[in-house]
Amino acid sequence: MKLCIVGTGYVGLVSAACFAEMGNRVVCVDVNPDVVAKLREGYVHIYEPGLEDMVKRSYADGRLYFTTSLAEGLEEAECVFICVGTPSREDGSCDLSYVEQVARDIGSHMSRELVVVDKSTVPVGTADRVRELIQAELTRRGETLDFDVVSNPEFLKEGDAIADFMKPDRVVVGSSSPRAAGARREL
Ligand SMILES: NC(=O)c1ccc[n+]([C@@H]2O[C@H](COP(=O)([O-])OP(=O)(O)OC[C@H]3O[C@@H](n4cnc5c(N)ncnc54)[C@H](O)[C@@H]3O)[C@@H](O)[C@H]2O)c1
Repeated sequence: MKLCIVGTGYVGLVSAACFAEMGNRVVCVDVNPDVVAKLREGYVHIYEPGLEDMVKRSYADGRLYFTTSLAEGLEEAECVFICVGTPSREDGSCDLSYVEQVARDIGSHMSRELVVVDKSTVPVGTADRVRELIQAELTRRGETLDFDVVSNPEFLKEGDAIADFMKPDRVVVGSSSPRAAGARREL
């Protein structure tokens, strides 16, 4: 499948490298130009044994690409994964501003039907919020594109993340859409 991963931190980069290793074509988008420039040079900014070799291999084979442009990332994507941070606020609640910004940006730039997958760790109800924000942008643009929102939280452990991703002891996928469930089987 053709995938777009938004956020190349721990979860995004490991997911992208593993999906590319499985044969998918993956475009990674990050707002940090330094991170994108380093990844294009084959330098991985997080500690994860084996990840740098996987990234270099898939990048050289053209199955993995890095950009700061979400529009470019979404050009051919069938599925987009939201993998940005959700830091805790002082009161213990979850700061969803990065996830919400990505949802708005997806609505602003998507140009075809899309399955939107939330991999960030988020509270119950976030999928509805993501759907609302994407739809609001589409309405503002006068576009009527179909999209589904899916929850697929990540449980990987830093330092053993590739093994956790490739051989998970559980995969949680939540969606009300049969089309989105079909996309999961194709990956
Ligand atoms: N790190 C872990 O081991 C782990 C494990 C399971 C789940 N999670 C969850 O996964 C999510 C991501 O965690 P992480 O540790 O990978 O985050 P991270 O902070 O390491 O990386 C997030 C990346 O997203 C980028 N970003 C922020 N806003 C963006 C935007 N609008 N567009 C594009 N890129 C943007 C940042 O530049 C950064 O590179 C969080 O919800 C976290 O709780 C993390």
